[in-house]
Amino acid sequence: MEKKKEIKINSKYPSVVDLRNKAQKRIPKFAFEYLDGGCNEDVNLHKNTAEIRDIELLPYYLSKHTGSSMKTELFGYVYDAPFGIAPVGLQGLMWPNAPEILAKSAFEHNIPFILSTVTTSSIERISEITEGRAWFQLYHPTEDAVRDDIIKRAEAAECPVLVILCDVPTFGFRPRDVRNGLAMPPKMSVKNILQIMGKPNWAMQTLIHGQPNFETLKPYMPKGLDLAQLGKFMDKTFSGRLNEEKIKPIRDMWKGKLVIKGVANEADAESAIKLGLDGIIVSNHGGRQLDAGESTIKPLTRIAAKYGDQIKVMMDSGLRGGPDIARTMASGAEFTFMGRSFMYGVAALGAKGGDHTISLLKTELQQVMEQICCEEVKDFPKHLIS
Ligand SMILES: Cc1cc2nc3c(=O)[nH]c(=O)nc-3n(C[C@H](O)[C@H](O)[C@H](O)COP(=O)(O)O)c2cc1C
Repeated sequence: MEKKKEIKINSKYPSVVDLRNKAQKRIPKFAFEYLDGGCNEDVNLHKNTAEIRDIELLPYYLSKHTGSSMKTELFGYVYDAPFGIAPVGLQGLMWPNAPEILAKSAFEHNIPFILSTVTTSSIERISEITEGRAWFQLYHPTEDAVRDDIIKRAEAAECPVLVILCDVPTFGFRPRDVRNGLAMPPKMSVKNILQIMGKPNWAMQTLIHGQPNFETLKPYMPKGLDLAQLGKFMDKTFSGRLNEEKIKPIRDMWKGKLVIKGVANEADAESAIKLGLDGIIVSNHGGRQLDAGESTIKPLTRIAAKYGDQIKVMMDSGLRGGPDIARTMASGAEFTFMGRSFMYGVAALGAKGGDHTISLLKTELQQVMEQICCEEVKDFPKHLIS
């Protein structure tokens, strides 16, 4: 019989805003600002959520309703809901074991978890936790040998989906991180020590679990880099700027599903189709790369309308709850992802944060579906007021 995860919500935190507020109180400022911030003046960050919320849905109150199901088929697998956990770097800096906590909750709730190349758990560990169900996001390595090695490790770990990233040709300019001298492990400046002393729970958990490291990258990197050195290492080891020549060998090598994340216009979507990719995540990295860019809902709408029948079109950036997922699906996305919402959950509630946040989002989305009389996720577009 199918095992279904029980939905239980901590009544103190019935929204992502509550989780964000609690997270801010619970973790040091440098860690919270790394998670929370966009880039430059945060214009793109705020536009993302605001413009999703311009979308309105039509409810049908007198239609026949036999029940609403969030189940969503994607790449031949049926997930319990049309949302997943986006790849986030340095997760262990925000809360110890954050990637493990989120991967376990995603597995139990039957939604996808994407592991970032630059987070604090390894491909192998996350595969063990998720019984080979986690996706892996690859920063493009400069050296073919490193690229091939990471891809082979993802294959050996039975990752069903490899996600390549196209929206980091440069390191986003993030004033807070510059100001905080963000480093991995955190720099013991007087300012940072004072911030850590003010968050005893975080400090104790970090002490118990030990310093976070880039576990997937361990075999390739020197120890103890600060932000400036990390920037140089990343620049040397990864060439964020993708092109068709760099994607072709990955397509040839990777037998599973291949998705490109960070697509923000029709021309790039067309290239992805030409290269034989299986999916696109329309994303602007949660507003962390190009402050002068569009919010994601705009290109999502255009790309889904034009190419939705040729490639799986998904979206992230700016979603903060069930109504936002519904708005995005109604605008043509076949699946959605969120980054910060889940990390706020873990930073706020530790080991219970993954389960709570997923339960909250499932509850909110189920309510919207029943309210508007949408029985299946594929019917969301019928409710779009255009
Ligand atoms: C703190 C932080 C770190 C991130 N690190 C990565 C990363 O390592 N790889 C990646 O593909 N995207 C990364 N992203 C982008 C997310 O995958 C996702 O696109 C974004 O968080 C979606 O926006 P949202 O936070 O508004 O949901 C990061 C985002 C945040 C907030």
